[in-house]
Amino acid sequence: MSRLDNKTILITGASSGIGKSTAYEFAKVAKVRLILGARRLPAIEEIAKDLTSKYGVSVLPVKLDVSDLESIPKVVENLPQEFADIDVLVNNAGFAVGVDRVQDLKMDDAVRMVTTNVLGLMAMTRAVLPLYYKKGKGDIVNVGSIAGRESYPGGSVYCSTKSAVAQFTSALRKETIDTGVRVMEVDPGQVETEFSMVRYSGDHEKAGNVYKGYEPLIPEDIAEVIVFAVSRRPNVVIADTLIFPNQQAGAYHLYKQT
Ligand SMILES: NC(=O)c1ccc[n+]([C@@H]2O[C@H](COP(=O)([O-])OP(=O)(O)OC[C@H]3O[C@@H](n4cnc5c(N)ncnc54)[C@H](OP(=O)(O)O)[C@@H]3O)[C@@H](O)[C@H]2O)c1
Repeated sequence: MSRLDNKTILITGASSGIGKSTAYEFAKVAKVRLILGARRLPAIEEIAKDLTSKYGVSVLPVKLDVSDLESIPKVVENLPQEFADIDVLVNNAGFAVGVDRVQDLKMDDAVRMVTTNVLGLMAMTRAVLPLYYKKGKGDIVNVGSIAGRESYPGGSVYCSTKSAVAQFTSALRKETIDTGVRVMEVDPGQVETEFSMVRYSGDHEKAGNVYKGYEPLIPEDIAEVIVFAVSRRPNVVIADTLIFPNQQAGAYHLYKQT
C-alpha cells in the first residue's frame, strides 16, 4: 500500500456511511493526509480526532455543502498549504429523499437531489482539475449506484442523478485520456448506512424495512473497493465497478427463483 503514502485525499460526505468508512480505510493502510468534507462539522471533527489518534494521520475537517456550488472553488482554493496539493478526490456526498411517484414529486426535493448528487459532484471535479492537469496526474472516484444502471418505481429522480454521474464520469474519462488523470466510478448496491434514514426522513421502521430479510453490504465493503482502485499502479484504471450484497442482482434485492 506504499503507493498511497503521502497522498492528499479529499472525501466529500465524510461524516457518515461510505465516506466515513473510506476515510478510515485510507488511514488504516497508508500515511495519507485526509480532507474530510460534510455539512455536519462536529461529526467530521470527531472523526478527524479519532483518525489522528488511532492512525497518526493528518486530517483536516472542512465544512462543505456541495450543493452550494459557488462555495466550492473557494473551499478548494483556501485549503491550507499542507492540504492544498490534492491527489485523490472521492466524490461521495449524495442522498435520496422520498419514494414519490412522478405525479407526486416534490420539486424542491428533486432540485436538492440534482444539485447535490450531480451539480455538486461536477463542481467539485471542476475545482480540482486545473491542479491535476498541471501535475499530470490525480484521481477522481465518483460514487454512483446500481440506481444509475437500473431504475425502480419511486426512484425516478435519484436514479436519474446516478445515471448522470455515470455519463459525466464516462465523458470525463475520455477528456482526460492523455493527461495522466484517472477517473473511476464505484457503484454500490444496498449498503446499510444513514442513507435510508435520510430517504425516509428519519422514519426508523421504513428505513429498517429496506434491509429486512437479507444481509446488506456494510460501508467498509465499498471503502475497501475505493482504496483498492486508487492504490493500483498509475497505468491501471479500475474504471467501473458494481458491488452487490450476495442476495442482490439488480435494483432490488432478493430476486427469488419461482
Ligand atoms: N447506502 C446505499 O445503499 C447506497 C447505494 C448506492 C449508492 N450510494 C451512494 O453512496 C454515497 C454515500 O451514501 P451513504 O450510503 O454513505 O449515505 P449516508 O450515510 O447518508 O452518507 C451521506 C453523506 O453525504 C453527505 N452529504 C449529503 N448532502 C451533502 C451536501 N450537500 N454536501 C456535503 N455532504 C453532503 C452527508 O453528510 P452531511 O449530512 O454531514 O452533509 C453524509 O456524510 C451517496 O452518493 C449515495 O447516493 C449509497
